[in-house]
Amino acid sequence: MTRRILVTGGAGFVGSHLVAALLERGDDVTVFDDLSTGHRAAVLPGARLIVGDLADAAALDAALAPGGWHAVFHFAALSLVGDSMRQPMHYLRTNIGNGLALIDACVRHGVPRFVLSSTAALFGSAGAGAIDESAAIDPGSPYGESKAALERALLWADRIHGLRSAALRYFNAAGADPAGRLGEDHRPESHLVPLVIDAALGRRAEMSIFGTDYPTPDGTCVRDYVHVTDLAQAHLCALAQLNHSSVTYNLGNGAGTSVLEVIRAVERVGGRKVPVAIAPRRPGDPAFLVAASGRIRREAGWNPEYGAIDAIVASAWAWREAHPLGYAG
Ligand SMILES: NC(=O)c1ccc[n+]([C@@H]2O[C@H](COP(=O)([O-])OP(=O)(O)OC[C@H]3O[C@@H](n4cnc5c(N)ncnc54)[C@H](O)[C@@H]3O)[C@@H](O)[C@H]2O)c1
Repeated sequence: MTRRILVTGGAGFVGSHLVAALLERGDDVTVFDDLSTGHRAAVLPGARLIVGDLADAAALDAALAPGGWHAVFHFAALSLVGDSMRQPMHYLRTNIGNGLALIDACVRHGVPRFVLSSTAALFGSAGAGAIDESAAIDPGSPYGESKAALERALLWADRIHGLRSAALRYFNAAGADPAGRLGEDHRPESHLVPLVIDAALGRRAEMSIFGTDYPTPDGTCVRDYVHVTDLAQAHLCALAQLNHSSVTYNLGNGAGTSVLEVIRAVERVGGRKVPVAIAPRRPGDPAFLVAASGRIRREAGWNPEYGAIDAIVASAWAWREAHPLGYAG
């Protein structure tokens, strides 16, 4: 049976990879995206693109009007932690306002399942252990706060309206479609893997390492990188769980990788030296942010295929090298 799926933000990095996975299994996919940070060319042929802003209630209503939805995936959001510290009310109003409007519209249009792109930024003051779903929610930024608010709103939508939902807390999404059709093109780019690759390719003068005196094995910050195609598969696993109940999953590799280790991986994969500059710590960067993602593996059978950092970097390298101008090329 063909499932009808709406993906907000499906022209963005993570959303476009989910769209690829949905199309591969024969779903009927509509992307709703204002292309503010996404790219028309990231929406694969086979998916329908509606260019619209979630803040436009009439456009959202029109998009959902056909009915018969199996699920809505909600990726569209403002997602820069630093920006959110400069414009807190803008982030809270936009992410919470748009998210609530979408949840409300889903309830009105009889959508039975909802999947939220949540974030590790819920756990602002994390310690040195891997973080599981029972860890205290303590957002270190208005961005994290906005996702926490939507997670809470979804609990009520389930209790009162029966809208089943999955809150998926991504740690660091990285890599690119192994088939080479899609990749990471944020503007400006703020994610580590593409920045390091650009430094290796000579497209940036150097890669800054912010802090080498953290209490980690090599002194640089440790994060949990998940291949974006594995992340897309996690969405399909979570979606299947919604036939039973609402779920919350932390999504990471469970293996921490330091900034220096990412740089070494790029040097190995690309065969080029990365020019680095040591800079002071950035305020608010936790030393260690790693997910314990045993719950989704156990309950939903998620089994990441591209766990090794070299595999993640290799796919990102291939796309970035082939697309010097990103999707604009
Ligand atoms: N990339 C990561 O490592 C990461 C980590 C944790 C959480 N997340 C979350 O995952 C989601 C996707 O992240 P991404 O890296 O793919 O971001 P992205 O910027 O590449 O994608 C977001 C998409 O949403 C669209 N969009 C934004 N505002 C919109 C609006 N008002 N109406 C319609 N469309 C709108 C953009 O045009 C873009 O296509 C975000 O919600 C983000 O908070 C991402």
